[in-house]
Amino acid sequence: MKKIISLAAVLLIVFVVQAQQPLYKNAKATIEDRINDLLKRMTPLEKAGQLNQLNGGIFTGPAANDPGQLAKIEMVKEGKVGSFLNVTGANETRALQKVAVEQSRLGIPLLFAFDVIHGYKTIFPIPLAEACSWDITQIEKDAAIAAKESAAAGLHWTFAPMCDISNDPRWGRVMEGAGEDPFYGSIVAAARVRGLQGNLNDADHIMACVKHFAAYGAVQAGREYNTVDVSRVALWNKYLPPYYAAVKAGAATVMNAFNVFDGVPASGNKYLVHDILEKKWAFKGFVVSDWNSFDEMITHGYAANRKDAAYKALIAGSMMDMESKVVVDYLPELVKEGKISMQMVDDDVRRVLYYKFKLGLFDDPYKFSDATREKATEFTQANRNEARKAADASIVLLKNDHNVLPIDAASNPSIALIGYFAKSKADLFDFWIANGKAEDAISVLEGMKERFVHSNISYSDGYLPDGHTNNQLIEEAVANANNAAVVVVNIGLSGKLAGEDRSLANPVIPEGQVALLKALHATGKPIIAVVSAGRPLVLTAIQPYVHAIVYSWILGTETGHAVADVLSGDYNPSGKTVMSFPYAVGQIPVYYDHYNTGRPLPDSGDQNWKSRYRDIPNAPLYPFGFGLSYTHFNYNHLSLSNNTIAKGSPLQVTVQLTNTGQKAGYEVAQLYIRQMTASIVQPIKALKAFKRVYLQPGEVKTLQFTLTDKDFSFYDGEGNVHIEPGAFKVFVGGNSHDVLEKDFTLK
Ligand code: BGC
Repeated sequence: MKKIISLAAVLLIVFVVQAQQPLYKNAKATIEDRINDLLKRMTPLEKAGQLNQLNGGIFTGPAANDPGQLAKIEMVKEGKVGSFLNVTGANETRALQKVAVEQSRLGIPLLFAFDVIHGYKTIFPIPLAEACSWDITQIEKDAAIAAKESAAAGLHWTFAPMCDISNDPRWGRVMEGAGEDPFYGSIVAAARVRGLQGNLNDADHIMACVKHFAAYGAVQAGREYNTVDVSRVALWNKYLPPYYAAVKAGAATVMNAFNVFDGVPASGNKYLVHDILEKKWAFKGFVVSDWNSFDEMITHGYAANRKDAAYKALIAGSMMDMESKVVVDYLPELVKEGKISMQMVDDDVRRVLYYKFKLGLFDDPYKFSDATREKATEFTQANRNEARKAADASIVLLKNDHNVLPIDAASNPSIALIGYFAKSKADLFDFWIANGKAEDAISVLEGMKERFVHSNISYSDGYLPDGHTNNQLIEEAVANANNAAVVVVNIGLSGKLAGEDRSLANPVIPEGQVALLKALHATGKPIIAVVSAGRPLVLTAIQPYVHAIVYSWILGTETGHAVADVLSGDYNPSGKTVMSFPYAVGQIPVYYDHYNTGRPLPDSGDQNWKSRYRDIPNAPLYPFGFGLSYTHFNYNHLSLSNNTIAKGSPLQVTVQLTNTGQKAGYEVAQLYIRQMTASIVQPIKALKAFKRVYLQPGEVKTLQFTLTDKDFSFYDGEGNVHIEPGAFKVFVGGNSHDVLEKDFTLK
């Protein structure tokens, strides 16, 4: 009886507590009801707080007493912060979350964000390199691993994927994207979102952020933070598709860009944020500024002062303010003055709160901050295996004269390995390595020693860390080469020159490295260049001095293993470049999907009064989609299901692909189309489909592609979709230049 009474008492207490508990804390209520309840309780300042994101840092140990950190903690207690960036690790995030949950009036949990661009601890190839794999399954898997490692370290949100199309390797941030093509960029962007987010209903996935909206990749002359001036036709057809694909894949957030569009900074650009993102695309997540980009509208000359900046950002539809604090400082005042409606503020805040509920943070604020899981999840052998697979597939073989590659490990050749980058782990990594550690990575020297275990591998620097060289370094390298059967030279640019604020007027192989190659070439030995860089470099100057070029980009943790996999032939290279390699710097921007112009230069011609250069060819050194293999693939018998098709009916395209070489390998078959005449001129080629297929030596496969109306459509400058009847060409091949071709008509 006693037991029954005490049970009843407990139940009563639970009932009373539940009844007293605000609705927003009741896990059984719907998210909508919980948000409505919470919004009713919030002051304007607390609402502004949810739209305020601060840069974090360290909040535990001695750093916690730093006045700057103490001030941030005070703001959290006052409900003035909704999110932090750059606070990482289960313990750090837990400590700060505790302040928000236990010491702020309403106990609203924080969102922790970080730039996890290509891995958190296990560092995958830079996104540009990874995109050269054309392996969408692997790309999605890499993103999922990055999310899992991040989530265990307390993160809820990454500022990725970057979906900026760019034609300009002077821009350091090309490394973060998927190259120059909008169709392919869209497929990669969606895969990255799927990998990062899953269904956002467990503790293994995090929110994605589509950035930088919009057209940031078109910065003039490739100079970071510079002006963008693109037409609306280019905006819709070239720049917007990858952002759109990422939004459609369910991305929770979108980030403003630093640039202007049509003369208006992206953060305050109503056309971009309100008209396109919110209205046309029906985006339901929230928009975050780029770092201080609300405030920078003053410097742009668009906002008069900080209050005006907050006003212009919010009415354009932008929401969360990263680091400029104009929203938290001025939103309440703007509401009071009637300049901004409470309904609009509520709509913005509702979106942020929605994701906090969806992630389960109101019910378990520490769900993501789990030190045990963090330890067990990060940098595991399984994750590294995936990073190695991704790195193998990212490498692009650009040249292989006389089949100098692969190097036959079984014959134990002596190898001269030359090049400072081959042993410098710090240079394997770029600007965005999250919490990856250089000392954990495999250098090219280590990878080669491990693979060519019975070969004598003798190393020399060849050049200085800055790319310069001197006689002594060259002499040592030449002596080293003279004693070896084969010479592998790791050149290029340090990973530290890839990423934000890393624009280069001359994306070329440094002179010292060219001089080194010249001297090595004179030895008469086979010279294999392994080129590391976060962008396509102009390789014209080194062409005469090397027999092979292995473009290894910046490959991350497993660099050395992957380079050795390819040099040894353990992995048959299959990467195809997703950015054109310029012939000369003056040719930039160079890209495959350009217009025909009124005066195109014929492929074979040397004619006057054509759109041409007098000193160099029009064509890039290596076109979009190009990459060699250790085997050969032949394309034959391109055929179409019909020569004429009606709108609404599909067109089947088939081609026969044969592996005519001696090795099994992957080929990426690419399909392009061209509409010959339209109300808006169309590119001379536009990628519409691809297949990555594996063929044994001698194997023949018939590849089939289906094209539908969507593939024949284009946008006008207002974002309306057109499908216009007329003559088309379809092209299929192993890169954007060497293709078979057929005609058809759309009725
Ligand atoms: C970059 C963003 C990045 C943000 C936060 C900015 O400078 O442009 O891409 O997400 O910083 O680190």
